[in-house]
Amino acid sequence: MSAPSTMTVSEAAESRRSVRKYVQEDVPEEDLREILRQVSLAPSPDNIQPWRFVVVRDPAVRPLLAAAALNQRQVHSAHAVFVLYADMEDVIGAIDEIISPGFRPEQAAKLKARLLKSFLAQSQEERQQFAHGISYIALGFLLLAAEAMGYKTSPLLGFEPDQVKALLGLPSQVTIPALIAIGKGDEPGFPHHRHTVDRIARFV
Ligand SMILES: Cc1cc2nc3c(=O)[nH]c(=O)nc-3n(C[C@H](O)[C@H](O)[C@H](O)COP(=O)(O)O)c2cc1C
Repeated sequence: MSAPSTMTVSEAAESRRSVRKYVQEDVPEEDLREILRQVSLAPSPDNIQPWRFVVVRDPAVRPLLAAAALNQRQVHSAHAVFVLYADMEDVIGAIDEIISPGFRPEQAAKLKARLLKSFLAQSQEERQQFAHGISYIALGFLLLAAEAMGYKTSPLLGFEPDQVKALLGLPSQVTIPALIAIGKGDEPGFPHHRHTVDRIARFV
């Protein structure tokens, strides 16, 4: 059984911070799977779910991944690193998978035709950019789900996408919104320094 989530969403949001050093303790695969199961519940436009993951745990592969990520210490220290990538061509190639079985056949056919028409009207780059942006919803879910299960994380954008893709054998068209190191924390991280609600929001 995976570790239960012990925090409310608001407790996880309060306590989460980037932690870049981890105690040398295994993260059970079932916990990683449970985090990803919760991530899979994230919403997306027309339910396209363009996010995909490679979970890097192999001690022989992690140093190579770290080398592709500017040798950032959290990649060396982590027990696993989620490589979050977006793959719109996979969405299109398996479009039937995202259509709810609750739809009537004619509804499903109509939706499928509408989606394919709108995606195929775009260039591969345009629709991939769309999928890339949508995939950050999965990042947010992942950080909170991991925190609520007692793990610390560190999201990263400091990496060479082409090197990561070559290392993991990812298709050339995919993009990588983030890597996420995870483990049991071995440092406190920094206190939150954030805009106030009044700085970021206007109520009309
Ligand atoms: C998409 C994304 C990319 C990031 N890239 C890096 C990175 O490459 N290296 C790093 O040390 N921190 C990285 N961070 C961590 C941010 O610096 C950190 O989230 C921010 O300063 C707020 O601090 P906190 O996460 O401790 O609350 C990244 C965060 C996000 C969300």
